[in-house]
Amino acid sequence: MVAAEMRILQLLPAVVVLLIRSEASSADPLIITNSSEVTSGSDLLSCNLIDPPSPISGHIWMKGDKVLVKDSNPGTLMTYNISQVNSESSGVYYCIFLTDPEVNGTIYVSVPPHGMAYKETEAGNEGDVGVLTCKCNSYPPVEHWTWYKRSSDGVLTLVVSDVDENYVVKSSGSKTELRINKLDMEKDQGEYVCNGTNYLGSTGATVKLRIRSRLAALWPFLGIVAEVVILVTIIFIYEKRRKPDEVPDEDDGGSAPLKSNTSMNHKENIRQRNSN
Ligand SMILES: *[C@@H]1O[C@H](CO)[C@@H](O)[C@H](O)[C@H]1NC(C)=O
Ligand SMILES: *[C@@H]1O[C@H](CO)[C@@H](O)[C@H](O)[C@H]1NC(C)=O
Ligand SMILES: *[C@@H]1O[C@H](CO)[C@@H](O)[C@H](O)[C@H]1NC(C)=O
Ligand SMILES: *[C@@H]1O[C@H](CO)[C@@H](O)[C@H](O)[C@H]1NC(C)=O
Repeated sequence: MVAAEMRILQLLPAVVVLLIRSEASSADPLIITNSSEVTSGSDLLSCNLIDPPSPISGHIWMKGDKVLVKDSNPGTLMTYNISQVNSESSGVYYCIFLTDPEVNGTIYVSVPPHGMAYKETEAGNEGDVGVLTCKCNSYPPVEHWTWYKRSSDGVLTLVVSDVDENYVVKSSGSKTELRINKLDMEKDQGEYVCNGTNYLGSTGATVKLRIRSRLAALWPFLGIVAEVVILVTIIFIYEKRRKPDEVPDEDDGGSAPLKSNTSMNHKENIRQRNSN
């Protein structure tokens, strides 16, 4: 094992310096044994390579597996301005020195769960399944999700899945889902709070759940049925009143006799052909 030594220097309030030091005598590749974590304030990430294993032919900054910037400068100091520590800039950053072998350092930009994404109001029909979700993509991932139901007097009650089989909570680091298997108008309608916690803090978001009664869901359909019934009744009454006047008209119709004429002509033609 290389006893790599590492120090964090706070040169300026807004500068985090990651010092990477190698033991020149060691044949082992360079290993970064410490990483710095930025949780607030600092907007400039910085890595300083001491004792590069070969001349530096450039630098790469990466966030996760995404390349942010690349240059071909020979400097031993590389910096990256993240503007602000927030949910968007949070993540794992790598400073890579293009040497032989490559050397890299890791800086964690960490925030409490931030930038919760959710739908403010969810709606469902009585008796149906209801699903409420909250998402949070900041770094580090949420370690613990909880759901609360807010009563009319503002008191939050923990929603416990498994105890009440009507509720199922499914959570991962970036998402939580509260599933209500059978929506009950009285019991389930109201406000819910999803709360995400990691070791830096917690954030909550309120989701309103509106439940429509079965009858309410039926109203548009009943409206159409009523319309059709009224229309049919009107047509029926109208037709009934009109019918006596129309009887003579039908007798005058010329199409029926014509048809029988042609069919008779046709039969005659066949008879004539047969006799020939
Ligand atoms: C670096 O390592 C030292 C000693 O192990 C530790 O006290 C310090 O908190 C570490 N710094 C960071 C930013 O992880
Ligand atoms: C980083 O960028 C922000 C704006 O994008 C700027 O206000 C700030 O001064 C920059 N910080 C450094 C250290 O250059
Ligand atoms: C950083 O260096 C380590 C050890 O050499 C390597 O395993 C890792 O893939 C490197 N990471 C990046 C982002 O280049
Ligand atoms: C989230 O839950 C934690 C632990 O139960 C609590 O300390 C915190 O105040 C809650 N945060 C919000 C925003 O509700």
